[in-house]
Amino acid sequence: MKLFNQGTPVTSAVSFAGLIEKIEILRSTLRWASRLERPEIEKLLKQATALRDEVMGLSHKERFVAAASTEPEAMPVVEPVELSARERRQALMERSFIFEGTFGDNPKLLEALEIAEKAAPTDLPVLIDGESGTGKELMAKVIHANGSRTDKPFISVNCGAIPDSLLESELFGHKKGAFTGAANDRRGKFEAAHTGTIFLDEIGELPLAGQVKLLRVLEAHEIQRVGSDEVIAVDTRIVAATNKDLRRMSQAGTFREDLFYRLSVIHVTLPALRERRDEIALLVAYFGDESAGQLKRRPVKLTPRLRDFLMHYDYPGNIRELRNMMYRISCLAGDTADLAHLPQDIRPKPAALSVVGAGKAGVADVTTATSLAEAKRAASDEAERAFLERGLQEVGGTVAELARRFDMNRSHVQMLLKKHGIRSKDFRGNRQAEGGK
Ligand SMILES: Nc1ncnc2c1ncn2[C@@H]1O[C@H](COP(=O)(O)OP(=O)(O)O)[C@@H](O)[C@H]1O
Ligand SMILES: [Mg+2]
Repeated sequence: MKLFNQGTPVTSAVSFAGLIEKIEILRSTLRWASRLERPEIEKLLKQATALRDEVMGLSHKERFVAAASTEPEAMPVVEPVELSARERRQALMERSFIFEGTFGDNPKLLEALEIAEKAAPTDLPVLIDGESGTGKELMAKVIHANGSRTDKPFISVNCGAIPDSLLESELFGHKKGAFTGAANDRRGKFEAAHTGTIFLDEIGELPLAGQVKLLRVLEAHEIQRVGSDEVIAVDTRIVAATNKDLRRMSQAGTFREDLFYRLSVIHVTLPALRERRDEIALLVAYFGDESAGQLKRRPVKLTPRLRDFLMHYDYPGNIRELRNMMYRISCLAGDTADLAHLPQDIRPKPAALSVVGAGKAGVADVTTATSLAEAKRAASDEAERAFLERGLQEVGGTVAELARRFDMNRSHVQMLLKKHGIRSKDFRGNRQAEGGK
């Protein structure tokens, strides 16, 4: 965390001492708070202690200035650490990080979570970018949940879903009679989010007029309702999200450059699901269980060719698409789901099946077998595959460990993995991975 406020360096020794004093007051208040739950107190205490230690470490005026003048792009928010994915997630958990259901151990995702952890206790604006369905809104909630505003409102506004003519009134409110249809005074989302966090989704859709007003909120922390002269102070933490390239838009003149820099003090990019394929197996299992729970059914089994499809599909809609697909499959399939349960528009054509099921063309599954012998063989294959995948999941992708655990010959295990086209490295770093749920 950097101790500067909207770019103003903390320069005098007085404010430095004052800062420490404030932290001490916070710490003793917390220690004696009676209405907070103990774990909450511990967490806040830990944060405050960390804050104090950081302030102590930054005793040089020069260092404050250096910290404040660092370009947002070059901000060293993540230390290069040589920890495994599991250790990094474990470390976050030990620091009482709240995951809000964010699942996965991909290094890029963990990096985003670690940035979120550091940004959360500050009031710095955060810009999250990534394709649709990569978890931007979820990440905004994670930032809110891990900061001091957690019990204050989290207000989400989709700037792309509101007509231009209504957007300003939606964000800043309006005065009665400000325009046709403004029958009453109305407060906007910024006022609703006062003391909390406002999530501005699809910020790239905000028209230029709205951008000017937003800049003003960021600079002066105040708003004016449409049609009103009265200035209202708002204390709102801003988290914005976009699937557009705002830097390019600002070069093209469709997004204000000054606003872009203001919003992106902390910039988090969420990778597309096809760039973190190592997560897919884990997410399939996770959403398979989650949907089973919601639909009150046993978790659905997947035929090998459906599993192959899910592992290699491109997911233009990212995690949202995968999640919806698992719910669909869990709803439509009986005990075992197959390609037929996929949405029609993405279902592979029969001719393409042999490509999808690479190397296993012509192998029937239990539901399509034309003889009892074939059905038995298919069922046995499926059991073998499920067993291996579960095992790899449990040992974090280490074949030797898997062989040891089930008292099997290692080369036999290798052979079986090859037969099923399972890659042990897809399971690396997934060991005992747990969501924050
Ligand atoms: N890492 C993740 N773990 C679990 N669920 C996720 C993860 N990322 C996204 N999701 C889920 O995927 C869906 C889409 O996420 P969302 O945050 O709305 O994406 P975006 O805002 O980028 O379009 C939501 O249901 C969300 O809970
Ligand atoms: Mg979204």
